[in-house]
Amino acid sequence: MIQFLLNQELRSEHALDPNLTVLEYLREHLGKPGTKEGCASGDCGACTVVVGELATGADGQEHLRYRSLNSCLTFVSSLHGKQLISVEGLKHQGKLHSVQQAMVDCHGSQCGFCTPGFVMSLFALQKNSDAPDLHQAQEALAGNLCRCTGYRPILAAAEQACCQAQPDQFDTAQAQTIARLKAIAPTETGELNSGDKRCLVPLTVADLADLYGSHPEARLLAGGTDLALEVTQLHKTLPVMIYVGNVAEMKRVDTFEDRLEIGAATALTDCYEALSREYPDFGELLHRFASLQIRNQGTLGGNIGNASPIGDSPPLLIALGAQIVLRRGQATRTLALEDYFIDYRITARQDSEFIEKIIVPRANLAWAFRAYKVSKRLDDDISAVCAAFNLRIDNGVVAEARIAFGGMAAIPKRALACETALLGKPFSMATIERACQALAEDFTPLSDFRASKEYRLLGAQNLLRKYFIELQTPHIETRVTAYV
Ligand SMILES: Cc1cc2nc3c(=O)[nH]c(=O)nc-3n(C[C@H](O)[C@H](O)[C@H](O)COP(=O)(O)OP(=O)(O)OC[C@H]3O[C@@H](n4cnc5c(N)ncnc54)[C@H](O)[C@@H]3O)c2cc1C
Ligand code: FES
Ligand code: FES
Repeated sequence: MIQFLLNQELRSEHALDPNLTVLEYLREHLGKPGTKEGCASGDCGACTVVVGELATGADGQEHLRYRSLNSCLTFVSSLHGKQLISVEGLKHQGKLHSVQQAMVDCHGSQCGFCTPGFVMSLFALQKNSDAPDLHQAQEALAGNLCRCTGYRPILAAAEQACCQAQPDQFDTAQAQTIARLKAIAPTETGELNSGDKRCLVPLTVADLADLYGSHPEARLLAGGTDLALEVTQLHKTLPVMIYVGNVAEMKRVDTFEDRLEIGAATALTDCYEALSREYPDFGELLHRFASLQIRNQGTLGGNIGNASPIGDSPPLLIALGAQIVLRRGQATRTLALEDYFIDYRITARQDSEFIEKIIVPRANLAWAFRAYKVSKRLDDDISAVCAAFNLRIDNGVVAEARIAFGGMAAIPKRALACETALLGKPFSMATIERACQALAEDFTPLSDFRASKEYRLLGAQNLLRKYFIELQTPHIETRVTAYV
């Protein structure tokens, strides 16, 4: 069984198809059609809901943390122990919620199809920020598309709703909601099943390892922002899933003297603080990673686990010399991330083995790390090319080099010929030009709808030139924001 609060109502579910998304559950199972389906692929935000969870603040006190998610990519099993807030839960005692009223006052809706999603993103923004500036409001809404109204009135609604917010029914009921969530906090592995389909929800890494050992056929579910597409876009059925998002040990970020250890089930939003503190370019890249809804649910482990050639974090992690800890039963092994990717969607992972954590070296000022993402849109778009350069330059000579690319091969990959062309050479434009030629030996990219092979290769070479120019003129702030 799994239990959660839907707005303020307790729901206990056990006989549900684990392939059911929260969107379908709300609309079809419960007859709550306020949440809309636009794309069913995480691109439009019409299905945005907010999920509340218990979290411990810097003051050591427990509080509620609210995050916007795409319900079209969220399976019901991942709600275990949480509070789901749908748009129906906002109106209270016959009165619109202040974010809804702001949308009315600022004329933020025309056809209204996108409106519930915007309202829920605004609600999450209101809960997470007292006085968001324009940039924060834009970032909170970048995963919501509107074809009719235009964004100016919606941004005005954001300003009205967040800068003059009064306590609402969720604030008033906070202590009670915390108590209710504590009362339903899972104490053992949860399960949703229907016929021979099941999703198991373990709470500890040891239980996860055991369950995966007994069900090697299972698909691991983290944020589901890739996996759920197999159900919503490819119309597959996933008969057995194991949800890793309730395994607390895999949702931690620990900082040691020489490294960060990031649990594989840590949401990208929760990786931001540590990664951007060490590597500002990593933080910049995360701002451009999908949308806030996707970053709130998608995990670092899932970004590696899907083994996509255009995943954004692997090239950066490879250039930084990151390792992953793989676990199977009680046994663990540590692998350089670059050795994990073998061929298109083929990895070194064995049956019943999973990524437990990612180990990232702390920043070393002797190295110059930069990352660049080239995509057709600034927000909410997958890379055509993603590049990460990490060089140690000693007395004007390249002493060490780690360079990796996404979008240039069947896997995220180091540019070894390029590195060789740089090593031991003066860090000069002439050396960079030779290294650019070597990139053509490293990669034979493909043409697809994101970019042609010629564009990809020239883009990669130009990013290396850009890296060189930026290091010569450090005041230039063009990194990562490159887009075509
Ligand atoms: C609209 C949209 C925009 C996107 N934009 C970007 C983008 O800009 N950049 C980018 O890189 N990606 C993007 N993605 C892809 C996706 O969001 C990321 O890859 C995300 O990090 C996946 O994490 P997840 O937790 O949701 O993974 P899931 O979907 O839960 O899992 C993905 C795969 O990894 C496996 N897996 C999960 N956890 C583990 C583990 N611990 N050990 C082993 N295997 C595991 C799963 O079994 C599955 O095969 C986008 C997706 C969408 C829908
Ligand atoms: S329906 Fe478009 S993001 Fe979910
Ligand atoms: S009001 Fe019609 S799409 Fe936004």
